[in-house]
Amino acid sequence: MMDIGLQKKTRTEACRMLNTLLADEFVLSTKTKNYHWNVIGPHFRELHALFGEQYRRLDDLIDRVAERIRALGGKPIGTLVGFLREARLVEHPAASSAWAMVDALQHDHEALIRDIREELARNSELMRDAGTTDFVTALLQEHETAAWMLRSLRGKEVQLEEWLNEQARVPYRKELPAELAASASGRG
Ligand SMILES: [Fe+2]
Repeated sequence: MMDIGLQKKTRTEACRMLNTLLADEFVLSTKTKNYHWNVIGPHFRELHALFGEQYRRLDDLIDRVAERIRALGGKPIGTLVGFLREARLVEHPAASSAWAMVDALQHDHEALIRDIREELARNSELMRDAGTTDFVTALLQEHETAAWMLRSLRGKEVQLEEWLNEQARVPYRKELPAELAASASGRG
């Protein structure tokens, strides 16, 4: 017998949502480990370290989600088959480059942020459960931090590309007659 002031259907709905989240976190953790192990290139050290840090955080979070489901009287998914069946995130077994790995992880963290936000805004059963609402809000913040770190890393690469492109354009533009330069830049 269990009485924490929540109707059974509220707890069932919270557990359903948490189990889907658990499956997504498991896929994302596995993907992050894959990239931690297999990343190569000039940024190996920082990417290997960041992916390592992120999968350890995800594994801690996975444990908290599963135990939250138990605290609500539910049963967490505990099999790989179950995780793959339930997850919304998909695996990309062969990321082509280090930056493709960064982009894929950023994409997944952001997808989870949007999914959690959507649940919080629309799920009326969830709104009755202050404990779970607070819990998933904390998860949302963890994913926001992870996405920010990945995005910032990628930003550095984009800035470098922009700078190189800018350097390549400068002498060419100087040699052009004024009216051609104006039309080449779209102002003519
Ligand atoms: Fe490691």
